[in-house]
Amino acid sequence: MIPTLAKPRVDIEIRRALTEDLKGIMEIEETSFTTPWPREVMANEIAANPFSEVLVALHGKKVVSFMIYWVVDCERHLQNIATAPAWRSRGVARMLMDHLLGEAQRDAPSVIMLEVRELNREARALYLSLGFTQTERRKGYYSDTGEDAVIMSLNIDEENPGRRE
Ligand SMILES: CC(C)(COP(=O)(O)OP(=O)(O)OC[C@H]1O[C@@H](n2cnc3c(N)ncnc32)[C@H](O)[C@@H]1OP(=O)(O)O)[C@@H](O)C(=O)NCCC(=O)NCCS
Repeated sequence: MIPTLAKPRVDIEIRRALTEDLKGIMEIEETSFTTPWPREVMANEIAANPFSEVLVALHGKKVVSFMIYWVVDCERHLQNIATAPAWRSRGVARMLMDHLLGEAQRDAPSVIMLEVRELNREARALYLSLGFTQTERRKGYYSDTGEDAVIMSLNIDEENPGRRE
C-alpha cells in the first residue's frame, strides 16, 4: 500500500495498477469521458510504457478511481484521472493527487503538468485547491465540443512544497 497524507472519507487503499485491474479501470474510463482511451492503450500504460505510472484506488477489491502520469526526468505529466460516478466527492481523487504531489516533493525541484477542459469544473477546482496555476490556454483544442484546453502546472521546490493535506 502506498502511503498518502490525504484523508479519504471512505476506506481506500492505493497501489500500482496490475493487468487484472484493467476491467475496472476501463469501466470508469468509459463512464467518465466522451472519448475514452481504447482498452489496448490502457493495457499498454499498465504493462509496457516505461514512463507511465498507473495507480488505482481500491475499496476492498473494487477499483473506484485511477490515475495515470508519465515521469520524464523531474517532470510529471498527469495523463488521466477519474473516479467512478458512485464514488465521487468522497476525497478519493484528492488522495491519488496527494500521492503524485508526494512523489514530486521527493524529487524536488520538480514540476507537475496537466491539461484540462475549460468546462471541467470539478477537475479544475481540484487542481486549483492543490496550488496548480494556469500557464497556457489552447483555443478550441477539443474537437468534440470545441472547448479550450487549459494547461496547468505546479512547480515544487523548497519554498513551494505544494499543498498536501
Ligand atoms: C475530477 C474527478 C476526478 C474528481 O474526483 P473525486 O474523487 O470526486 O474528487 P474528490 O472527492 O477527491 O474531490 C477533490 C476536489 O475536487 C473538487 N470537486 C470534486 N467534486 C466536485 C464538484 N462536484 N463540484 C466542485 N468541485 C468538486 C473539489 O475541489 C474537491 O475538494 P473538496 O472535497 O475538498 O471540496 C471526478 O469528478 C471525475 O472522475 N470526473 C470525470 C473524469 C475527469 O473529468 N477527469 C479529469 C480529467 S482532467
